[in-house]
Amino acid sequence: MTNIELCDIGMIGLGVMGRNLLLNMADHGFKVAGYDKDKSKVDSLLTDAKEQGKVFGATTILDFMKLLKKPHKLIMLVPAGAPVDSAINEFIPYLEKGDLIIDAGNSHFKDTDIRTQRLSEQGFHFMGVGISGGEEGARHGPSIMPGGSLAAYDTVRSIFEAVAAKVNGAPCVAYLGRASCGHYVKMVHNGIEYGIMQLIAETYDFMKRALGFNNQQLHDIYKKWNEEKLNSYLIEITSLIFDKRDEDKNQFLIDEIVPIAKQNGTGMWTSQSAMELQIPVPTIDLAVAMRDLSVLAKQREAASMLYSRPIKIIDSTEHADFLNHLQDALFNAMLVVYAQGMALLASASQKYAYQLDLSTIANIWRGGCIIRAELLNEIAAAFHLMRELPNCLLNPNLSKKVMATQESLRKIVAKAAEVGIPTPALMVTLSYLDAYRSAWLPANLIQAQRDYFGAHTYERIDAKGTFHTKW
Ligand code: 6PG
Repeated sequence: MTNIELCDIGMIGLGVMGRNLLLNMADHGFKVAGYDKDKSKVDSLLTDAKEQGKVFGATTILDFMKLLKKPHKLIMLVPAGAPVDSAINEFIPYLEKGDLIIDAGNSHFKDTDIRTQRLSEQGFHFMGVGISGGEEGARHGPSIMPGGSLAAYDTVRSIFEAVAAKVNGAPCVAYLGRASCGHYVKMVHNGIEYGIMQLIAETYDFMKRALGFNNQQLHDIYKKWNEEKLNSYLIEITSLIFDKRDEDKNQFLIDEIVPIAKQNGTGMWTSQSAMELQIPVPTIDLAVAMRDLSVLAKQREAASMLYSRPIKIIDSTEHADFLNHLQDALFNAMLVVYAQGMALLASASQKYAYQLDLSTIANIWRGGCIIRAELLNEIAAAFHLMRELPNCLLNPNLSKKVMATQESLRKIVAKAAEVGIPTPALMVTLSYLDAYRSAWLPANLIQAQRDYFGAHTYERIDAKGTFHTKW
């Protein structure tokens, strides 16, 4: 085959995400090749490829590379960590100067910096690209968060723009900056995802155990919420989950699932990065902590005996009121968790010189990704109005929305504390909001204590300089 007849891009790793993304590319007219050592994966790719003549496969690197146009463009969708380095190392002997490797998995941004440096020293381009939307998104339109050199991005721009989800015709992909910022932005996306999932779980718990709602009612409520201001992918799938029956037993599947939440690390990385940058993201921290607490099932079992306190059921005459408050409380908290994530991005942009455009990021999150939500339109508008906004809670339009719903968040948090339903993410979100909107905080006492026991000094309101007192 001549170069022009060869494949535009090759996929390393034909797991579900890799395979689906490749098929998506073929749907859009690109000629693609997939590589996997596992022959059954290559065979199933070729079987699924309805675009005859567009999809090719190979089980050896040599055969795979022969299928690709030069300079070679390779995209990897393999698990983060060691598998990424192994894949890179396996391919290096087959690469030529000017070739491009794209890591489209959930890699840690610091690893991406190291890999970029290492590969560029050998004459190769490297891109860190966040892809969100799960299996379905990869197949029919994900949100794509690319980082790398602009020159490298330009060689794959047409592919990414074609396969990405579209919102009002605009593709949910945009060049974000140097390599590691693609993975940084995806990491924060996942941190926000953890926060929203935990907040939704708390509303579920409140409705199930304090209001006594059944799965059918939960399905109906989340469905209604999805049609109103909470319109978002995570609310939509929550509604569908409560409608799903276990085919064998004709019971609701949700009640058959062990209530222990697993994680792959991206939420924790978001919290760790936020701690390093000293930007508070307490709702995300809490969401990670609650997954960790869910794992301690045996301890919680024992503690449930020691600390037994029955949950007080809320009277049915109050249900309608509490439902309205819950909807507003969740809206408020969701807005605040986006604000926390965006504030982290704003800080990382400065610290790592990413020069992120937060309005663009909010825009490309409006479709395809797990945290897509109608609310992102207004978040994008806030950053469009003021590019350097450190926190979108300072935007007047968003502040009106927060003010209009904050009393509901207070009502839910207070009631949850009274009846004994754990709603730590809702609670911490409210406290974050109260602290953020407080011009005064009791940190003067902390400074006094630090000076008292450690002579750490303090600053004064009425004089310049640093002071120490013999307390
Ligand atoms: C996405 C998802 C995806 C993955 C999460 C799950 O954007 O498509 O975020 O990346 O499903 O990483 O993360 P946990 O396994 O940590 O919940």
